[in-house]
Amino acid sequence: MRSYDLAELLLTELHRADNPHHAAPLNRRLYQTLRGTILAGRLTAGTQLPSTRDLARDLDLSRNTVMSAVSQLAAEGYLTAQQGSGTYVSDTLPDQRPLSPTASAKLRQAKPVDANPRELSQRGALLTHSSGSAQFEVQPFAPGAIEFAEFPIQLWQKLQAKYWRSLDRDLLDYGQEGGYMPLRVAIAQYLSLSRSVRVTPEQVLITSGTQQSLDLAARLLTDHGDEAWVENPCYWGARRALQAAGLKLKPIDVDVEGIAPSATDWQQGRPRLIYVTPSHQYPLGHVMSLQRRRALLRFAAQQRCWIFEDDYDSEFRFSGRPFASLQGLDEHAQVLYSGTFSKVMYPGIRLGYLVVPTDLLPAFNTGLYDLYRPGQLMLQAALTDFITEGHLNTLIRRLRVAYQARRDELARRIQRCLGDRVQISGQESGLHLCLLFNAPDVDDEAIARAAEAQGMTVRPLSRYYLGAPQQRGLILGYAYVPTERVPPWAQKLCQLIRDALPD
Ligand SMILES: Cc1ncc(COP(=O)(O)O)c(C=O)c1O
Repeated sequence: MRSYDLAELLLTELHRADNPHHAAPLNRRLYQTLRGTILAGRLTAGTQLPSTRDLARDLDLSRNTVMSAVSQLAAEGYLTAQQGSGTYVSDTLPDQRPLSPTASAKLRQAKPVDANPRELSQRGALLTHSSGSAQFEVQPFAPGAIEFAEFPIQLWQKLQAKYWRSLDRDLLDYGQEGGYMPLRVAIAQYLSLSRSVRVTPEQVLITSGTQQSLDLAARLLTDHGDEAWVENPCYWGARRALQAAGLKLKPIDVDVEGIAPSATDWQQGRPRLIYVTPSHQYPLGHVMSLQRRRALLRFAAQQRCWIFEDDYDSEFRFSGRPFASLQGLDEHAQVLYSGTFSKVMYPGIRLGYLVVPTDLLPAFNTGLYDLYRPGQLMLQAALTDFITEGHLNTLIRRLRVAYQARRDELARRIQRCLGDRVQISGQESGLHLCLLFNAPDVDDEAIARAAEAQGMTVRPLSRYYLGAPQQRGLILGYAYVPTERVPPWAQKLCQLIRDALPD
């Protein structure tokens, strides 16, 4: 190509009003323009470039500027210098031609997932298939939703500000050694007094909640393909964490005494881990009987398997003291006891604890640190004060009163409207109750959808079963709805249920 032909082409490009590189230094602008010209096919492979001297003259640039651009393009493979015969456009370009503006606009708009589905791993597909919890809004009767209005935000702000003001830089570090020791001391005291947990502060590991406690326990104590027993029906979060660890889940029936393995299960079962909610079975709400607790502990001792006790909401027991923990009865250090601040503080705090048998501590400390790099020591310090200064107890007492009134109101309305067509289960403690339909085959999914359409969130019991649902009903959370707002919502809901139940 003659020098002035190329110069003309380049000059037009260089001085185009919409040249995106117009603010760059001249050598960079020339480089970009030449490169774009090559990629657009306007300078084809094999084309010989004029000498840098000629090009500099015709472009009215210094020779150094031209040489800088040309040598950069040669280094990147766009141009090839042949000794003695000049510089040529290469015949294999280092990257692809740019797309036309319309083609790139189309690409931006395209949804790659629709156009060409990307495959999840088998585990990913299993874990994300029909998540039970993700499909509902937080609105009246949403299980798990709590009352934020009672939370003393200003006090909480003050406690946190105190630590940020203290300039204690150690609190900015990773949470090594299982978390902030004063918090572990406070939790150990609380658990031994009110939950009859046998615990020293060293045994308390601060985690980011039950989900992480389960993940850690499953990863450290079980292998891929091992069997885990789960209650049936069971909490989704637990199921997901155990599946993510590669465990084969065996659903075990639940009766009014809690998890109820069959005679065959007791004789032939070989689980590596058993997940239970003894104080308030989730979602049916039963309390595990002493006899069943003893049987389970005996079985775990014989089979040398682990029990994961998820004690997620026993602070909210409405009459009498909270039930003692299963861990407190354990003579063989086989129970890992887990608690959470999601219900008594707020879910987004992401703080919980796992009480670990002493001989497992070195492994669990290392595992916690290496797998998750825990932190949030400032938050843990503020929480310590919140507990030790008595604010947590005050908050729990206030919430208990509020939740009890809401539960009473909801239960009364349901009984009045639906009478013996339903049973209410698990209402002695916690934040939800389980409404069981006395008629078989009621479509609880359809009722949940109809409720959703009317601005309520209720969960169909059938969703909590692994395999065929054995009972139909609805899980109703009452913690979120102030007492005075319960009647109109309850009326709407009962009407829907009445329409769906056979006469
Ligand atoms: C049975 C059960 N365990 C634990 C939790 C709390 O989990 P996390 O501590 O991960 O927030 C919940 C929350 O709804 C639950 O229902």
